[in-house]
Amino acid sequence: MTDPRAPFRFHKTKEEERRKERSHKDVMDEVFDRQTLLTIGKLVNRGLFETVDFSVSTGKVANVFRVSSKEGYRALKIYRIGNAVFRNMPPYLQHELREEVGSNSFGRLVFAWVRREFMALANCHEAGVPVPAPIEYYRNTLLMEFVNEGGFPYPPLFKCRVESPAALLEDVIKAVNSMVTKAGLVHGDLSQYNVLYHEGKIAIIDLGEAVEKSHPMAKGLLLRDAQNFAKYFNKLGVVISPEEMFQRMGGASL
Ligand SMILES: Nc1ncnc2c1ncn2[C@@H]1O[C@H](COP(=O)(O)OP(=O)(O)OP(=O)(O)O)[C@@H](O)[C@H]1O
Ligand SMILES: [Mg+2]
Repeated sequence: MTDPRAPFRFHKTKEEERRKERSHKDVMDEVFDRQTLLTIGKLVNRGLFETVDFSVSTGKVANVFRVSSKEGYRALKIYRIGNAVFRNMPPYLQHELREEVGSNSFGRLVFAWVRREFMALANCHEAGVPVPAPIEYYRNTLLMEFVNEGGFPYPPLFKCRVESPAALLEDVIKAVNSMVTKAGLVHGDLSQYNVLYHEGKIAIIDLGEAVEKSHPMAKGLLLRDAQNFAKYFNKLGVVISPEEMFQRMGGASL
């Protein structure tokens, strides 16, 4: 006998499929405007990757995709161009980018910002800080190592259950300390959202707001980063004060 609920299930599945297709299409339409498609075409023509596989994250500022190249997976971060990006940017950054490009054009400001994140990644990677290795930047796109396990991205720390918080604390301190003392940079937006984690391994991402350690705001930003993480670790039962966190993260060298 046929299940009386079968037609209902059928419709529901179809509707779910349609919804998924719609939301996929929304992401595609919003991110892949004509200019961005041309930009991606350039990267593909240069052999930097062959396919865009799936969306990893849809954020306020950027969308991140997994892409595939002959050498394997890569992460493609596509910054949005528009007012919303600037509303989400700290004032010091807006000001510095305007000075740098000498213009108020959203496009040019975003390109300068992408370059800034690329340079910060390059300095950190060279200094041995666990960040995704940068590969290329072009206009509003940044191509970098895809931090993954079996093709799927490491999740951000806020989604993770951490087996050994004390060991993680040491790893975070070591990474941030080398970012400050070896790469000479303060992240400026460090939180459980911008540290990816998997089985005891970490990667620090999202370096677009980083400043050099000589920057007048460096100390204040590192203090805020230290406060964020001290709070996070205290919640996990590892007691550390923001001051100690700040010092051990390289605050003494600022
Ligand atoms: N190199 C990478 N490898 C794997 N996943 C990544 C990589 N870079 C970014 N991601 C994923 O994309 C998400 C967003 O990246 P990122 O933090 O750099 O962008 P964002 O500008 O902060 O976006 P949002 O507006 O969401 O804050 C990350 O939380 C992570 O899940
Ligand atoms: Mg982020």
